[in-house]
Amino acid sequence: MSPDDKPDNLINAEGLRVDGRRPDELRPVEMKVGVLKQADGSASIRQGNTYILAAVYGPRELHPRHLTLNDRAYLRVVYRMATFSVPDRKRPAPSRREREISMVIANALEPALFLEEFPRAVVDVFIQVIQADGGTRCASINAASLALADAGIPMRTLVPSVAVGKAQGTLLLDLGDAEDKYGEGDIPLATLPPQDDITLLQQDGHFTKEELLEAIEMGVTACKYMHELQKEALKQAYAKRRPADDAEVDDEDDDDYEDDLETDLGESDLEEE
Ligand code: CDP
Repeated sequence: MSPDDKPDNLINAEGLRVDGRRPDELRPVEMKVGVLKQADGSASIRQGNTYILAAVYGPRELHPRHLTLNDRAYLRVVYRMATFSVPDRKRPAPSRREREISMVIANALEPALFLEEFPRAVVDVFIQVIQADGGTRCASINAASLALADAGIPMRTLVPSVAVGKAQGTLLLDLGDAEDKYGEGDIPLATLPPQDDITLLQQDGHFTKEELLEAIEMGVTACKYMHELQKEALKQAYAKRRPADDAEVDDEDDDDYEDDLETDLGESDLEEE
């Protein structure tokens, strides 16, 4: 979005947002499970114009071996934006922002997983942002947790996620790109239903204590709804699935995955971790 696209107001006289939503209204959400044939588990999410794919492999042998955890599997999350996903061409090299978001997503998902059942292994989660229009870290968590379930990774729960922001002093659910860029703040959060333990809580911008508490309540309520959508997406995928789809596939390409992983992660990721 160029500065020329900056809207005069993020909320109009009727109290509606630039895309016509009410302050507490989510964008249209569409989640699909099992969208990629090669991955052990996969999912896609469209949330407004944000469009993301998540692919999961594993549990499988971990390379490089020095990353091995003796008491649990290593949850390796790689969040990347396609070069064409944003208005300015995104440089292909992994950015600091992408590395930070990869870590934040891993931290949000990890408490939901029984990683201790797979010591020394790795569960790989590859997230590709195809189109970014705000809220990509939250949408990524929604899709990644569905892809993990689709891969059969033992989980306590799916992990729903949504952001709450603020513009013109009003709290707004599920920010679009303009609201993210020109609004007053952004609080992405993720929860573990049914207790709604919070596994992601970040804050960008200034919120009063009252606003923060109200934003969290708004986000937790929206996560409950997201969770229902996630369960529905899983049910639909399994209703469609025929027994033949679960047949063993030849995995002779596994070695190639390992060779390519270094490229996907960026060499420096491997050195740093
Ligand atoms: O996507 P999310 O809100 O989780 O993360 P952000 O870092 O707050 O980015 C907000 C939005 O800015 C993204 O969703 C994209 O729409 C946009 N963005 C962009 O246009 N170019 C980038 N290189 C990174 C983000």
